[in-house]
Amino acid sequence: MLTLGIETSCDETSVAVVADGKWILSNIILSQVEHKKFGGVVPEIASRAHLKTIVPIYRQALQEASITLDDIDIVAATMGPGLVGALLVGLTFAKGLAFASEKPFVAVNHIEGHLAANLLKHHDLAARHLTLIISGGHTMLVEVKTFGEYELLGQTKDDAAGEAFDKVAKLLDLGYPGGAQLDKLAQQGNPDYVRFPRAIMKDQGYQFSFSGLKTAVALHIKKLTPEQLDRHRADIAASFQEAVAEVLVTKTLKAAQERNISDVTLSGGVAANSRIRQLLQERLKQAGKRLLYPPNELCTDNAAMIAAAGYYRFEKEGASEFIVNAVPYLRLE
Ligand code: KG4
Ligand code: ZN
Repeated sequence: MLTLGIETSCDETSVAVVADGKWILSNIILSQVEHKKFGGVVPEIASRAHLKTIVPIYRQALQEASITLDDIDIVAATMGPGLVGALLVGLTFAKGLAFASEKPFVAVNHIEGHLAANLLKHHDLAARHLTLIISGGHTMLVEVKTFGEYELLGQTKDDAAGEAFDKVAKLLDLGYPGGAQLDKLAQQGNPDYVRFPRAIMKDQGYQFSFSGLKTAVALHIKKLTPEQLDRHRADIAASFQEAVAEVLVTKTLKAAQERNISDVTLSGGVAANSRIRQLLQERLKQAGKRLLYPPNELCTDNAAMIAAAGYYRFEKEGASEFIVNAVPYLRLE
């Protein structure tokens, strides 16, 4: 079964072809560079850029997979969460293709897509597992009972993990989005340079909070002269990253132990972070548990993960109605 996946929820235009929800035949990703000079994603610019590129990217995805539309069995697209105008481009394009070619259309939850990125890579992942979804828009600890059945254990009360990375990266003049650059810079820094606050919030279970940490970094930077900031940029990056990693890892390990879950996955853009991967790997290993995460190109937004999620959704409950609309604040459960 070949699934065509389409993703346009934010600033990546992506189209992919995936076989049986497991094998990637093509996964074309175009990251919009138009937003860089604004220091953040401008919704109207994102929608217009998707409109311009969706058809060529679609053609390229078919070409790279060496197939035509006739060979496709399912057409899947992200319906939310995301920017409504951006979502509508991919969703409407997918509906049009499916309707005209009389193929089933499947609307996909973007968060479930991130989760499904692991299914593309780890074919032996236990159906019941724990996943930490960390992206630009979300920070969620979720128990997956089986694909499609989720229990949300906790989420962020304020900033998402990726948002915190991007805001601190901005404070350190690393550009936007600066999460990956911050990760790279932190590798040359001292994580013990400043002990930034860790919002473990023992009384609040698996809830997260990152806005206090972001403010602590901002206040610290404010006290430095430009020379001091230049000298300690990598140290601040490493110290901030260490605080984020420690909070995420502490809560994830606790959930895995309390719920007796042996397979743990990371998903979402921040799952590419080297320190979070390393620390979680270490702690889970000590506890006799296994950590799995997607390769970097499947951590950030891409259509292969949407195709995979679409395939498993279709297996579970068949096609979606064509009247499905974009839902900017769509939830996972
Ligand atoms: O999943 P994603 O592509 O978009 C959303 O659905 O939100 O995640 C993008 C986020 C951005 O905040 C970006 O800075 C962050 O993932 N990111 C990283 C790394 N690579 C990407 N954050 C920390 N370390 C990284 N290596
Ligand atoms: Zn995403």
